[in-house]
Amino acid sequence: RNYTISVIPGDGIGTEVMPEGIRVLEKAASLYGFTIEQQWHDFACCDYYAKHGQMMPDDWKARIGSPDAIFFGAVGWPDTVPDHISLWGSLLQFRREYDQYVNLRPARLMPGVPSPLAGRGPGSIDMWIVRENTEGEYSSVGGRMYPGTKREIVIQETVMSRHGVDRVLRYAFDLAQSRDARHLTSATKSNGIAITMPFWDERVEEMAKAYPEVRTDKYHIDILTAQFVMNPDRFDVVVASNLFGDILSDLGPACTGTIGVAPSGNINPDRTGPSLFEPVHGSAPDIAGKGIANPIGQIWSASMMLEHLGEVEAGKAIMRAIETVLADPKLRTADLKGEADTVTCGKAVADALS
Ligand code: NAI
Ligand code: MG
Repeated sequence: RNYTISVIPGDGIGTEVMPEGIRVLEKAASLYGFTIEQQWHDFACCDYYAKHGQMMPDDWKARIGSPDAIFFGAVGWPDTVPDHISLWGSLLQFRREYDQYVNLRPARLMPGVPSPLAGRGPGSIDMWIVRENTEGEYSSVGGRMYPGTKREIVIQETVMSRHGVDRVLRYAFDLAQSRDARHLTSATKSNGIAITMPFWDERVEEMAKAYPEVRTDKYHIDILTAQFVMNPDRFDVVVASNLFGDILSDLGPACTGTIGVAPSGNINPDRTGPSLFEPVHGSAPDIAGKGIANPIGQIWSASMMLEHLGEVEAGKAIMRAIETVLADPKLRTADLKGEADTVTCGKAVADALS
């Protein structure tokens, strides 16, 4: 078995954690009898923007070709390129062009990792956040009128299509159905956002009819964030619109100790294009260049990528190796009150793989 992977490290700590992700991928490939052909790309980062005045070449799709998956680091360097330009010029292009309509993000408290939440031990946080990834609040519908004057008005519309909402809900219900807890929570705000969110609620109720074994509930986003902190053990699969899912999927992993361990899959479940796997975190300018970033988010993303490609055993083996390393303060990074630097931690995961 051979897989072609586009490798795009991006900016800041993306360039530091990517080699550790690759290290573990290569080790997994050698142990589990498959090969990974890597195609590295130097675009989708702010250095490329500095040289070319845009984040990606016009023919980026042709250059990427048709890999089996894209392995991505992080993009953004706010000192040189405004974040909305770096993000819309790279990652959001991939998500939309390849129709990666599910953003799948686990939050799991690992054995040995101190939770910032009092009294929480391993197993008490174990959830999947399913974020809608191609529409919703992140739309380009809107405008800016009378700029720079006292009459200035800005408008940005939320776009929800029945097709777009239903397909992400179906994915989330399928996932809930496959889990022991069979519990799905929907994030809403239909009391305040009185047009799009009641529509979202209606589609959840409709979809729930097809999954009688899945227990379904909903919370408004404001109290849901509080419940994530107070009672994270209540949640199993949480489905949310683009913006709400973005917020919840930073908060969920933060409740497990650090966002530095959190992975994500930008998934095209219909496989009409490649899916993209990346850590949840960004380029972390405050720690970039110091070699101290936590590489686990990148490595866990590699595990998700392998499972997506059908290398389920190798993906699970990476998870066991991650658990072994996280339990040891000498091998984990400073964000988890550990002593290791990025490379030490990455090597430890590769060594723990079997
Ligand atoms: P960030 O995730 O880069 O950093 C937030 C905080 O978490 C910082 O204090 C950072 O040091 C810490 N942190 C993040 N990852 C870590 C890791 N692996 N190990 C240890 N500590 C870690 O978010 P921020 O600061 O809001 O954004 C910085 C840049 O990254 C911006 O340009 C932003 O647009 C971009 N960004 C890109 C994302 C992506 O590529 N998917 C996602 C989020 C932000
Ligand atoms: Mg985010």
